[in-house]
Amino acid sequence: MIHRPRRLRRNPALRALVRETRLTPDNFVLPLFACPGEGVRREISSMPGVFNLSVDEIANEASAAYDAGVRSIILFGLPESKDELASGAYAEDGIVQRAIRAVRRSSPELIIIADTCLCEYTSHGHCGVVRGGDVLNDESLELIARTAASQAEAGADIVAPSAMMDGQVGAIREALDDSGFENTAIMSYAVKYASGFYGPFREAAQSTPEFGDRRAYQMDPPNAREAMREAELDFSEGADILMVKPATVYLDVLKMVRDRFDLPLAAYHVSGEYALIKAAAQKGWIDEERVMMETLTSIKRAGADIILTYYAREAIAALNASAIS
Ligand code: PBG
Repeated sequence: MIHRPRRLRRNPALRALVRETRLTPDNFVLPLFACPGEGVRREISSMPGVFNLSVDEIANEASAAYDAGVRSIILFGLPESKDELASGAYAEDGIVQRAIRAVRRSSPELIIIADTCLCEYTSHGHCGVVRGGDVLNDESLELIARTAASQAEAGADIVAPSAMMDGQVGAIREALDDSGFENTAIMSYAVKYASGFYGPFREAAQSTPEFGDRRAYQMDPPNAREAMREAELDFSEGADILMVKPATVYLDVLKMVRDRFDLPLAAYHVSGEYALIKAAAQKGWIDEERVMMETLTSIKRAGADIILTYYAREAIAALNASAIS
């Protein structure tokens, strides 16, 4: 007798009946970039469809996204000016703090996540305090914790530390609790690789390091067991959600984290992963919607509950269209 798995692939209804993985609009987090000015909407050349938005524009963009089905956003900021101590990251009227307040007003139901890092705010572009060419760990923790507390104060539901400093989750948890924000959650970029796929983001956030690179704090791409240790540390320091980043070239690591940890798990489909699909689609070499959905599905299938992606709106539109057809 021949075994016939094809029986259940014969038509769309049969395929839907046995489908194992489904994306839903609630899975997605849309990244947005806040910049100074008013009425500013500047497209990022290496990320077609993604913009630097002034605070007024970001409030509009967030409510349009909410109307389109997006339930969560993550905010990044381009400050007016940068300095050695990243003071724009924790200023009361910092760019992200203002964006959080504006979005909270325009879209009270939207989940607001704030990326908690210093690299967009330091003059040298590194994710911590620099002295003698080194990125200092413990000195950076205090500023990172301060940044998280000020984002919570502005109204962020979740803070997302991405600097890869050791002990940052614990330092943030303590600072949040001490300032009365025990309900603010931490989504930790626990497993963040030193990746070439962040290239377009650094154009968007103007955060390319002035010297050196981030390999002395972000993870070495060949390592997967080390990722379990990073996840374990952040779990024990009090992370509420763990993240793996980038997503598609680290699906094996994502799966390992899924199998070993029971916290909600996020994956960041980063700027370079987005740009690759966009570029090939613009050349007419691939079917953009199909490749986008296949890619995002692979991330979910590997174990992500939450997917941060610049494609959030398009993916939700595709899901809604396929629900109707
Ligand atoms: C900040 C940060 C980065 C990204 C998210 N948070 C850049 C970096 O570490 O260089 C990358 C996101 C993307 O590429 O889409 N540290």
